[in-house]
Amino acid sequence: MVRQKTILKALAGETQDVPPIWMMRQAGRYLPEYRATRAEAGDFLSLCYNSDLATEVTLQPIRRYGFDAAILFADILLLPQALGADLWFVTGEGPRLSTISDQAGLDALKPTPDIHETLSPIYQTVRNLSGALPSETTLIGFAGAPWTVATYMIAGRGTPDQGPAHALKDENRTVFEGLLARLTEATIEYLSAQIDAGAEVVKLFDSWAGSLKGSDFDRYATGPARQIIEALKARHPDTPVIAFPREAGDKYVGFHQATGADCVALDNSVSPGWAVANVQKDGCVQGNLASSHMVTGGEALAQETRAIVKAFGNGPHIFNLGHGITPDADPDNVQRMIDVVRGG
Ligand code: CP3
Repeated sequence: MVRQKTILKALAGETQDVPPIWMMRQAGRYLPEYRATRAEAGDFLSLCYNSDLATEVTLQPIRRYGFDAAILFADILLLPQALGADLWFVTGEGPRLSTISDQAGLDALKPTPDIHETLSPIYQTVRNLSGALPSETTLIGFAGAPWTVATYMIAGRGTPDQGPAHALKDENRTVFEGLLARLTEATIEYLSAQIDAGAEVVKLFDSWAGSLKGSDFDRYATGPARQIIEALKARHPDTPVIAFPREAGDKYVGFHQATGADCVALDNSVSPGWAVANVQKDGCVQGNLASSHMVTGGEALAQETRAIVKAFGNGPHIFNLGHGITPDADPDNVQRMIDVVRGG
């Protein structure tokens, strides 16, 4: 009998003495070995589409820290690119895309089955990783949730308040909902292909879910997540799904049942005590240490890490940050966090 991987146990609802741990953006610029491989690739997108180098950077944090999960190295904005949007990254600023604002722009997107042509190197990375990871390490695939991806496609860049996407929603609901429907359909095919290639878990990142309020949240965050998870479960009933409706606040309550997610990932704006009573009661949760501790370290890092492990310790829990680790983080602080979680 092979012992089941710790991440899969947590996702199956098991409470463990030591929670499994991985970290959002664990392959990233805070690591010197990542910066070296990225320089070899030339730029970020070339790194994403180079299966050998993307495999290498995915493995780097596993080698250095022995995390319980590896997350495929790619980006949520590769899907819009595969649908025909132009995509580039401006150093020090972030992503830029061609924008969609009307029916003609929506109609110009490529048909869903065509996405695999652009995304085939990503599936190759997943296949490489399936063969290369240690037997105890779980491989996580991912995609952006339709709302979050749409905010970038509508604005052509990251925006502090997702204003352009909210404006299109209010001014031309047909085009806005049409875009979300196209993204929902394509995300199902993209994640399904990652699972076929060997992803053992998939995660849906709704980084900007928090700016959807009231019934907008239900329609444009919960609804698409439910549709995607339902379709994935029909094809891959044994593959767990993690949903991350970041900054959902009160809307975290009931998100497991409303979407069918096996695990709900928490940002660090919710207190562990509240989340235990209101979210973990429904299933596995992931989170939620503030990523700033990876910069500042010290006793506060150890104390806060211990408090999170303790608070979530009576139910299924995957230890993680509340958002991605930042480039200014100290790699030694990551080791300190892991040592505290594992009881060192
Ligand atoms: O977590 C991992 O290690 C896996 C890889 C991964 C990346 N992006 C690599 C990346 C994942 C899961 C993502 C998700 C992603 N990408 C999200 C959702 C999660 C979140 O952070 O809210 C979003 C919104 C994006 C879009 C994106 N990609 C932005 C806004 C930026 C620029 C900001 C930044 O941090 O530089 C990126 C670039 C990006 N994606 C980098 C990495 C490692 C940095 C690129 C570089 O090396 O210069």
